[in-house]
Amino acid sequence: MSSSESPADPVASESPVIARVRRLGEHVGQIVTVQGWLANRRSSGKLQFLQVRDGSGTVQCVLRKGAIDDELFKAVDSLPQESSIEVSGEAKADPRSPGGFEISVTDVKIVAAAEPYPISNKEHNTGFLMQHRHLWLRSSKQAATLRVRARVIKSIRDFFDGRDFTCLDGPMFTPSACEGTSTLFEVDYFGEPAYLTQSSQLYAEAGAMALGRVYTFGPTFRAEKSKTRRHLTEFWMVEPEVAYCDLEGVMQLAEDFLGAIVGDVLRDCQTEFEVLERDITKLEAIVPPFPRLSYTEAVEKLNAAGHEFEWGADFGAPDEEVLTKMYDKPLLVHRFPADIKAFYMKRDPEDDRVALCVDVLAPEGYGEIIGGSERANDLQFLLDQIAKHELPVENFEWYLDLRRFGSVPHGGFGLGLERAVAWICGTHHIRECIAFPRTLYKIYP
Ligand code: 4AD
Ligand code: MG
Repeated sequence: MSSSESPADPVASESPVIARVRRLGEHVGQIVTVQGWLANRRSSGKLQFLQVRDGSGTVQCVLRKGAIDDELFKAVDSLPQESSIEVSGEAKADPRSPGGFEISVTDVKIVAAAEPYPISNKEHNTGFLMQHRHLWLRSSKQAATLRVRARVIKSIRDFFDGRDFTCLDGPMFTPSACEGTSTLFEVDYFGEPAYLTQSSQLYAEAGAMALGRVYTFGPTFRAEKSKTRRHLTEFWMVEPEVAYCDLEGVMQLAEDFLGAIVGDVLRDCQTEFEVLERDITKLEAIVPPFPRLSYTEAVEKLNAAGHEFEWGADFGAPDEEVLTKMYDKPLLVHRFPADIKAFYMKRDPEDDRVALCVDVLAPEGYGEIIGGSERANDLQFLLDQIAKHELPVENFEWYLDLRRFGSVPHGGFGLGLERAVAWICGTHHIRECIAFPRTLYKIYP
């Protein structure tokens, strides 16, 4: 991320100057120490080019024979990749160097020589890399993705905090389903069954009745049996919920929200996008307003494009891909058939077959990143839906109280963080967008 506006590094001490690679530009002409790991190197007998990675970036350190003790020079020359070292020397601007700076080395301290490192600079398959995820995080693309993720998280919080929302986090242990019973993870809660949360929405609704505008943000769990590039069993979701808000308000909020996030990362993540080789012109196009289609219109578009699709079915990844390739901005698809959506959604008064809901589909084939709706605010309707979906009504009594005591129109949405980051970074599979992904059959490391 750009350091142009951040204050001086609070961890850097005066003497010797411990410099972060990302901020070397502030130290040109000074003797600095970089504390890091040996990422790569070249040597030609008298000259060693050490690529030193400190977590904020990688800098080329030029070590000349004679600049340090001969024994040490030899020891450095045989250091395995990922050995930890502290390198001191003059920071120089050098446009030919990756990153624009290099260090002319005058001292090296070997902190710990590494064992032969399993991840070399050649290609490995993803299965192998995921088995070594704890080490794979050190590679530049993985680190860049996690930095973008962290920036997106800040952006999410800034957006809602700046719009008078209160952060209210939901519980992880829940007594009941929110998004259908087929993906519940059951846990033994002192002898009683409980479930890991699928969504904090129902709790956010209680929060919205108390605080007006709230958002929840945290991990959510789904026992997804599908092994696709966009399913995790544990993923992070941010869920805003707003009292006195209809579907139009929900769509407007989602649009402003995505526009703000993309604006922030374009400004602050240039270095990361370079590392990721992301075509940022695709992101620069993400300026609201975004195109909107009703589900019925979307089905007509699919069929007109020769992609057969029957009204009433849910969109799968291939359908979303065809649709999103028609636009270079996120696409809002609203008013899906109520039968394929959750029990809590309000029906469209103009057409009882459809729910007042919206999915936001990201461009470039990334598909659904947001699902949201206006919520049913009628007590009897909800009772009927709970019965129809065969949910245990006693576990929803608290939720029904929200309709008994001052029910108002309200709505909100959920954004899947990893799916959003995958789209922003142009990452093929969302498992690379969380430090330690949990997927079907994969819970190590
Ligand atoms: O569409 P979903 O299921 O909606 C809800 O959970 C609502 N209760 C949200 C709300 O209105 N407050 O999930 C919302 C988003 C999806 O659009 C997707 O981005 C993400 O969560 N998501 C997943 N991400 C990764 N892996 C999975 N298995 C996901 N399932 C949903
Ligand atoms: Mg959905």
